[in-house]
Amino acid sequence: MDNGVILSGKALSDKIKAGLKERLADFPERYGRVPHLAVILVGDDPASQTYVRGKEKACELVGIRNSTFRLPAETTQEELLSRIASLNADPEVDGILVQLPLPEGIDEAAIIESIDKEKDVDGFHPLNVAGLWMKRPCTVACTPKGILRLLDEAGVELKGKRAVVIGRSQIVGLPTAKLLLDRHATVTICHSRTKDLGAVTREAEVLVVAIGRPRFVTGDMVSEGVVVIDVGVNRDPSTGKLCGDVDFDSVAPKASVITPVPGGVGPMTIACLLENTVEAFLRKKSAL
Ligand code: GUN
Repeated sequence: MDNGVILSGKALSDKIKAGLKERLADFPERYGRVPHLAVILVGDDPASQTYVRGKEKACELVGIRNSTFRLPAETTQEELLSRIASLNADPEVDGILVQLPLPEGIDEAAIIESIDKEKDVDGFHPLNVAGLWMKRPCTVACTPKGILRLLDEAGVELKGKRAVVIGRSQIVGLPTAKLLLDRHATVTICHSRTKDLGAVTREAEVLVVAIGRPRFVTGDMVSEGVVVIDVGVNRDPSTGKLCGDVDFDSVAPKASVITPVPGGVGPMTIACLLENTVEAFLRKKSAL
């Protein structure tokens, strides 16, 4: 079979960003200012630096104000908490994002919990996580939200489908499974201890892979017609090039729809972050 549809997250995120830019055009006149996203980057992890630059560029493109605080790796937890407290208190800051992972010695959970729930544009705060699982108003994490948008864009019907998620992280695997469940898919979550993983993944009509292992899912592990969402961002150990968790060359010929890496889920995460920031701004404005 020929390759199925290659689902471009780049194209969809460009469309979302263009829509946001248009929406924001009259914000200064209507609301007196544009939304404002504060990003905190601690230390000099190269991947995090790249992600943060991507977020800065995207804000600039759509017209969201961005302040990035680059703090040294030696920053203490108290210093970070105090920075977040002042951003929480600042009425002109709508969204706060602390880039993860944080340097050793900083309690990530304590940092996330210290962010005002209404400004938590990552959707990582326990109250937002609880909101997702209890179907209450909440901010949904950007990558899972982006995955669902991609599936919708491709016209994938989820109701009654067998969906398999590989990976059980708080950031991607678990919330994605919940969103699929909310769309009435029958969801299985697999992980490193799953026995005979291939037998489970071959049952999948929709397969989401978020495990951080280069080219882990191979063609023999999927069935003909599967819809594949590859969340992985890895360096190929032999070529050093960017690759996903899915071995594209052997899986794409069997897939009806597949996301590439790069240009798949990654750009969608950023587009959804921008959306979450605009929504945080509008929530505040309508509450006034
Ligand atoms: N590190 C990797 N992905 C993310 C993300 O979505 N948000 C934050 N804050 N840090 C990350």
